[in-house]
Amino acid sequence: MNALFPATHAVPSEPRPLLAIEGLSARYGHRRPLFGRAPAAPEVLRQVSLSLRPGETLALVGESGSGKSTLARIVAGLQPSSAGHVLFSGGALPALAQQRSVELRRQIQIVFQNPDASLNHRHRVGQAIQRPLELFFDLSRAERERRVIELLHAVRLPEDYAWRYPAQISGGERQRVALARALAARPRLLLCDEIVSALDVSVQASVLALLGTIKAETGLSLLFITHDLAVARWFADRIAVLYRGELCEVAPVEELFASPRHPYTQALLAAHRPSTRPPAAPSL
Ligand SMILES: Nc1ncnc2c1ncn2[C@@H]1O[C@H](COP(=O)(O)OP(=O)(O)OP(=O)(O)O)[C@@H](O)[C@H]1O
Ligand SMILES: [Mg+2]
Repeated sequence: MNALFPATHAVPSEPRPLLAIEGLSARYGHRRPLFGRAPAAPEVLRQVSLSLRPGETLALVGESGSGKSTLARIVAGLQPSSAGHVLFSGGALPALAQQRSVELRRQIQIVFQNPDASLNHRHRVGQAIQRPLELFFDLSRAERERRVIELLHAVRLPEDYAWRYPAQISGGERQRVALARALAARPRLLLCDEIVSALDVSVQASVLALLGTIKAETGLSLLFITHDLAVARWFADRIAVLYRGELCEVAPVEELFASPRHPYTQALLAAHRPSTRPPAAPSL
């Protein structure tokens, strides 16, 4: 057992999903009227239904613009859907984060595709990671500082990074700070939006191994958005394929690779096969 990630959420035997998305649709804003009539903004998600079991990793793949980040942002409560609903642990999830309880906000964390937009440039790295510790836990200052250092080590950053500002570290390092900050909340559901894409292969492998360890120890569920099918195959239990806002296929990883059913999934795998590489050996 790892002291850093105690098993506060052992994998329950409950059959119900941790997250159930039902008939979710989304569109952005309203169009200004042109020639007297305002056309409805197009839907970027259409009737998407998905579920995620406790302890499961579901990879969400699909071409750029297919709606992956939009789906994650709706689950995180950062933007509303236009139809459908989301259940978390069996209960209806309020649409927006500010309508959710502190405990719900702790349990659902997101790591954004673009860490530059999510880290406050005036806050040092240590302050950023400390914030969820202050919000969600009753810890002494010394305990918080110890956990910040543990979390930095967990994402393979040296502890003196706690004193740096986001502008003083690289993009891949900022992504790892954002991950450490999300993990500080000890979530039950982590929404990961392309979090390893900017990392080199060895750091990528260690971040995935870290998530694998936390999953095994705490029963964390992951919605793992990636465009890298090799990563999805190696890391996920199931893969969901989005195409132009619609879910075209969801299947266990090996089933999807062995017999993709939807033509878009077939095309995606055909494009991927020539570049298939063996997954990097995970090491911490
Ligand atoms: N703030 C916004 N305002 C208007 N349209 C948006 C906004 N954000 C995204 N969109 C549109 O919604 C659609 C889905 O975008 P989304 O960011 O969810 O795609 P994605 O699958 O995450 O793509 P990528 O792989 O490039 O990150 C796209 O057509 C995009 O142009
Ligand atoms: Mg995206």
